[in-house]
Amino acid sequence: MKKFKKIGVLTSGGDAPGMNAAIRAITRSALDQGVEVVGIIGGYSGLLEENIIPLTSSSVSNIITHGGTILYSDRCLEFKTPEGMAKAVATCKKHNIDAIVAIGGDGTFRGATDLTLHGIPAIGVTGTIDNDITATDYTVGFDTAMNTVLDAVDRLRDTCESHARCDVVEVMGRDCGQIALMTGIASGAIAVCIPELPFDEKAAIEEIKNAKESGKRGMIVVVSEGVYELDENGKKIPYGELLRERIETQTGVETKFARLAHVVRGGSPTLRDRLTATKMGCEAVDLLLEGKSNRVVIEEDGYIKNLDILYALTVDRMYKNKLKDGDLDKFSAEEIKSMEALCEKRRKEIKDLYDMSWEICR
Ligand code: F6P
Repeated sequence: MKKFKKIGVLTSGGDAPGMNAAIRAITRSALDQGVEVVGIIGGYSGLLEENIIPLTSSSVSNIITHGGTILYSDRCLEFKTPEGMAKAVATCKKHNIDAIVAIGGDGTFRGATDLTLHGIPAIGVTGTIDNDITATDYTVGFDTAMNTVLDAVDRLRDTCESHARCDVVEVMGRDCGQIALMTGIASGAIAVCIPELPFDEKAAIEEIKNAKESGKRGMIVVVSEGVYELDENGKKIPYGELLRERIETQTGVETKFARLAHVVRGGSPTLRDRLTATKMGCEAVDLLLEGKSNRVVIEEDGYIKNLDILYALTVDRMYKNKLKDGDLDKFSAEEIKSMEALCEKRRKEIKDLYDMSWEICR
């Protein structure tokens, strides 16, 4: 087995609170095992531009409390081209980087698997606020993002209560409604709207009318950014804005709209995110030193585990109905069955919580 002398760490895609905790854990764990560490600046672009810094125990000191990523992040299109990949591999060779740990979401893992295929062993660590990676129960950043939303919604509720208003709050999550669903339930929203399941607008508006009649003053509706309607030109109109107007006109309750946007991605990571990032970072280094690559570190039933990246990416596409011809060819019937079971489990988790939100959110 090859003994690695130097590994590179990068963060790619949307940043997430806890990424710094992962960088710190990877650095300290590798150094502790006699392996040098460098940070690649700006995600995969840093490999193309040879933007590389040494990471020492002291250079990752005091970063565990900070949101964002000290290595900065990017979504690099050039890296996906054969020329980009060739440059990235050349940089690794030139700087004696034996392996890479890539922290991010599904795009980041695609990059990691490509690097492995081109001879640079890579491991992925999940870091995205959306919690939208099917293969893992949890992605670093999710808990902090949810708590940030909760804090904002609690504040909005205070002022809604004073003025007898409703607030439609749009939260991040791309095509995944988990942030909206969990925070909607935890903030006592009167309705929650997510992209995964149909929203009964009529019933929600009826609830608001009834609540108003029974004397309720402050009301919150949480809508995921992934829900939209198309206008006559096929342009996406964010549903939250449309719903605000419909609630106001149909219930007579003054209704405001708040888009939390990137506020949700910043801030000091929670204990949950610091701890999970640390465990995942250490696991990534251990995997590399055990000679494994092309794995993604995941959490399952509270335990840190790892999976083949290709499996993780494929089950993700299966869940998101994005499978392409031939995607399943590399897998055994048993593996395909386990992927289907995981997708079913994820759908059920969301459906159960969504049904519960309708039962109790009023
Ligand atoms: O994937 C994380 C995320 O914050 C999503 O919730 C959101 O849709 C997207 O990234 C925003 O991306 P950008 O930072 O490029 O605006």
